[in-house]
This record gives sequence, C-alpha cells and structure tokens, in this order.
Amino acid sequence: MTLPIVVVGSGVAGMATALAAAPHPVRLLCRSSEGSASAFAQGGVAAAVGAGDTPAAHAADTIEAGAGHNVVQVVEWITRAAPGTIRWLEAQGVVFDHGADGELTLGREGGHGAHRIVHAGGDATGAALVRALRAQVERAAHIRWQGGAEVDALLMRGGRVAGVRCRGADGRDEEIEAAAVVLATGGIGALYPHTSNPPGATGSGLALALAAGAAVCDLEFMQFHPTALAVEGHSLPLLTEALRGAGAHLYDGEGRPLMTGLHPLGDLAPRDVVARRVWQVQREGGTTWLDTTPIEGDFPRRFPTVFASCQAHGLDPRRERLPITPVAHFHMGGIATDLDGVTSLPGLHAVGEVACNGFHGANRLASNSLLEGVALGRRLGALLAASLPQASTAHGPARWIERGPGLAEAAQPALRELLWKAAGPVRDTARLRDAWRTCQAAEASGWQVRLAKALLRAMRLRRRSLGAHFRLDCGCSL
Ligand code: SIN
Repeated sequence: MTLPIVVVGSGVAGMATALAAAPHPVRLLCRSSEGSASAFAQGGVAAAVGAGDTPAAHAADTIEAGAGHNVVQVVEWITRAAPGTIRWLEAQGVVFDHGADGELTLGREGGHGAHRIVHAGGDATGAALVRALRAQVERAAHIRWQGGAEVDALLMRGGRVAGVRCRGADGRDEEIEAAAVVLATGGIGALYPHTSNPPGATGSGLALALAAGAAVCDLEFMQFHPTALAVEGHSLPLLTEALRGAGAHLYDGEGRPLMTGLHPLGDLAPRDVVARRVWQVQREGGTTWLDTTPIEGDFPRRFPTVFASCQAHGLDPRRERLPITPVAHFHMGGIATDLDGVTSLPGLHAVGEVACNGFHGANRLASNSLLEGVALGRRLGALLAASLPQASTAHGPARWIERGPGLAEAAQPALRELLWKAAGPVRDTARLRDAWRTCQAAEASGWQVRLAKALLRAMRLRRRSLGAHFRLDCGCSL
C-alpha cells in the first residue's frame, strides 16, 4: 500500500508542496476556515525579472535586510529560482498585473534596490495566489484536501515521524500513517495582541515540532509591521508599505512628521525602525497616523484591499488620515531546516513561515515570503515524490507525541499582553526574564505558554540587537 505524504497547512507553501508531489498521493490538511496568512499578503512576489536586474542583486538585498544572518546558499538558490517561480505561478492560472506595454508591472518596496515586485490584483497578490493554487489543488487527482482538520499529534515509529493524528470538523479523531509529514502551518503572529496574520497563526505546528524534539532556530527574530489599521480586534487590516511608496506619510497626534531626523529614508526607513518609532510614541501615550490623502490616481483600483478594509471601518483613505499601530507580522525563526525542508527528525519536513532555513536571516525583505513558500514548496514536493517510492517504511512500535492541551480562551489575552510588553519591537533583560519566569510557572496551562517560553528564552540568549531583534539594554537606544 502506498502511504500518502501528509501536508499540514494550506497556504501557498503547503499547496505548492502538494501540487509538486504528483503523482504521489497527498493528504492536505488545513485547520482554519478564516484562510491562511498567504491569503492576507498585500505585498507581492519578489523576482529579478526586470531589465538590468539580476538574482545576484536580489540576493544582495535579501542579505542586507537580513543583517547578514542569512544562509547564503539558500538565498542564492531561491533568488535564482524566482523568475521561474513567476512563470510557474502564471501556468497555474495566476494573472499578474501588466502595463499598457504588455510587460509585467514591477513595483519597488523598502530594501529593494530595483523594481522587482510582481503583483496580482494590486495589493491582493496573496489572495490571487491562494485562489489559483486552490483551484489546481481541487483539480489534482493525487491530492485529498480536508478543511477543519486540527493536527495535534505526531506518530513516531522506528525513530521516524510516520504519521499524524487529526481531529476533523465532525470532532472525530483520525490517525493517518504517512510516508512523510510536511509542516506548512505558518507563523506565530496571533500569539501577540495585534497581528496582520489570521487568528489561527498561533504557532501550532512549531509547538508540535518542539514537543517532538525537533531542532528550532532563530526564534527571537519576529518582524513587526509598523502600519496596521488601529481598530478594534486581534487580527488587524494591514496598510501596505506600498502606500508610503505611493506618497503616504506618517504623523504623530500633533501632526508632526513621525520619522523626521530618525533615518535618512524617512517614512520609508526599514520596517523595524518605523515600528519602533510607532511603538515609542504609543508608549508615551501619543497617537500615530498614516496620511494617505496625497496618493494620486484611482485609490480603490490601486489598493483594493486597503480601501475595502478602511470602508468596512467607516474610513475613507482618500479623504482622511488613518490611525495606525504596529502588528506582529512575520516570524523569521522556526523549525530548523535545510534547502530541502529536511528537519532534525527523520520523516518530518517543514516549509514556509514555520520553517527556518536561513533565507530571511534576522529580518525579512519585503515580498520575499510568498516567493520562498512557492519556490521551496515546489522543490520539496518534487524531492519527496522522487525519493519516497524508494524510501523504507518505518517499522517498530508506535509512539504518539502530543502537542498537549491549549491555553483556555480566557487566559489568552494575558499571554498576548505579556509577549507584547516583553517580546515586542523593543526588548530588555528585565522584562524578558520576568516574562520567562511567568511562563515557566504557568507552562502546564497550555502549549502556547510553552511556546512563548521558548521564544522568550531565545530572546534572552541573544544579548545584542540584530535585525528585527532590538535589545534596549545592550548598548542600543531608541
Ligand atoms: C506590505 O505590503 O507592507 C507587506 C509586504 C510584506 O510583508 O512582504
């Protein structure tokens, strides 16, 4: 009997893996109904496809943004694969934006030295990719897609990860034996009070891998996006950086420019610099605003996602300034993998935001994450399909590794506040230590607390600022 590849998570990384694994049977399990973080992505796909641009230049910008903490071999491979990734996405049905000349429209975002961001439907690129790949998944005879499936345990047999247990939408548990298990479960943004991620992005896959003893790395590197719409809620609408690229400006509550004198790039300073400034003004009791009214042209057509979010909250970005707040956006750390998605546990692979392969280093360059998910998902799926028929099946007694019970709903806001204060855009030893002790004392209360403890430990151990990890007490000041 051919055991399936089990892919957990149906963002772009999970779907690309599943599609590329043809003809090997795949079970694609997806927990949430609110969509993956991929679908929320307002950036585009970075690729050196413009005249005069090169993968080497894209790689250099990626390493510059990542503070040199990147794995060069991974950066070089992905940036070289980027133009082919765009072509593959087009073949899957993604319609990228083109100019009147029929050429791809290439945008430029913070940290990129060239126009190399490809969009589909303006600021709705992530949703366009998810729609196209989902249609392919539904057509693919080798993939069995299942929504509402919560994976909460890994099956270990003969020293290998050999399957998963998942609870279906009907509340029934199913044990699935697998030729290989791929975690593509996304990031951890929803562990914080405000995030650009969907509410389900709580690090469930990372917590499962930690419980099983998989090696993790770079957990301290969390990217905060400076401009989400400051409205009620946990998962907040992003106000894409491209708005500032198109002429929007940042102000404090008194109408003073927010970034004056702080960075030569002003409002388009690196994301972490702007996020810390917004954090600081808010901590001092002030308010922070994005003025989108100078943006020229047809706003609803250029930024349909932003426009719809603003309208849903009774705001008109063409006529009034928008209240902003920083949000947890992207986790550079995760389950340690190589370029092939191989983890320290035989049989277990990881891809997309849950994985840490060194592509992003200490800070991700804008629009590099959809690229990474698709490029490495395709690579992993193809590798698995080629190697699994020859791989030996795991033998021996079965042992289940469980993630364990989750934190009670009522206790989750307190954990989020704790992380925001200690593990947000600005950190110091005393807060990290106190938060870690709080988590240590409460770790039996849920897997989210154990995961938070692991994050706080990594943040304590890196006693200097690097990339998105900013330590106020290690010779750095705001
Ligand atoms: C943005 O559009 O500001 C976010 C894009 C990204 O995070 O890549």
